[in-house]
Amino acid sequence: MARKQGYSGLQIGLHWVVAVLIAAAFITHEDMGRALRSRLESGETGAPLHVWFGIAALVFIALRIVVRAFHGAPPPPAGQPHWADLAAIWGHRVLYLLMIAAPLLGIAAWYGGLRSAGDVHEVVGKALVILAAAHAAVAILHAILRRDGVLTRMVRPQV
Ligand code: HEM
Ligand code: HEM
Repeated sequence: MARKQGYSGLQIGLHWVVAVLIAAAFITHEDMGRALRSRLESGETGAPLHVWFGIAALVFIALRIVVRAFHGAPPPPAGQPHWADLAAIWGHRVLYLLMIAAPLLGIAAWYGGLRSAGDVHEVVGKALVILAAAHAAVAILHAILRRDGVLTRMVRPQV
C-alpha cells in the first residue's frame, strides 16, 4: 500500500462525514430493540432514523476504504515509541473492522430478521463508539501534549 505524507482532502472529508453519521446512528439507537421486535412480530415496514444514519455511514465507510486503497495513508508520526506506532496501526484496523461489522450486523437483524445478529450488533456498535471516543481523545492528547501535527493532518489536506 502506498505511503503518503498526509491524507487527501477527500479522505479528510470522508473521515468527518463518517464520524458524524456514526455519532448520529449512536444518538438515535434508543428504542431500536422495540422497533425490531415490532417489525419481526407485525411486519412493520417503516425505517427509523437509526437505520438511515447507519446505512448512510456504511456507504461512506465503503467509499472511504476504496479511496484509502488507492491513496494510502501516512506513517505514524516520527519520534514516538514503537508501541505507540503499533497502537495507532492496530487501533485504526480495528476501527475499520468495527465500522464495517456494526452496520452489516444491523442490516442482518433489520432486513434479514436475525435476532442473534441484533444482539451481536448491540455489542459491536457500542464497542465501535467506545473505541472511536478513545481514538478522538488520543488525537486531542497528541495535539496538547506532543504537538506533533497528528490532529492537523486530519484537518489540512496533503496530496
Ligand atoms: C455505524 C453504524 C451503527 C451503529 C454505531 C449502531 C449502534 C447501535 C447501538 C449502540 C444499538 C443499541 C443498543 C442498545 O439499545 O443496547 C443499536 C441497535 C440496533 N441497531 Fe444499530 N448501529 C448502526 C447501524 C445500524 C444499521 C445500518 C441498522 C439496520 C439497517 C441497525 C439496526 C439496529 C437494530 C435493529 C437495533 C436493535 C437490535 C436489538 O435490539 O437486537 N443499526 N445500534
Ligand atoms: C466515529 C468517530 C471516528 C471514527 C470511526 C474514526 C476513525 C478513524 C480511522 C479509521 C482513522 C485512520 C485513517 C487511515 O489511516 O485511513 C482515523 C484517523 C484520524 N482520526 Fe479519526 N475517527 C473518528 C473520530 C475522530 C475524532 C472526533 C477526531 C479528533 C478529535 C479524530 C481524529 C483523527 C486523526 C487526527 C486521525 C489521523 C491519525 C493519523 O494520521 O495517525 N477522529 N480516524
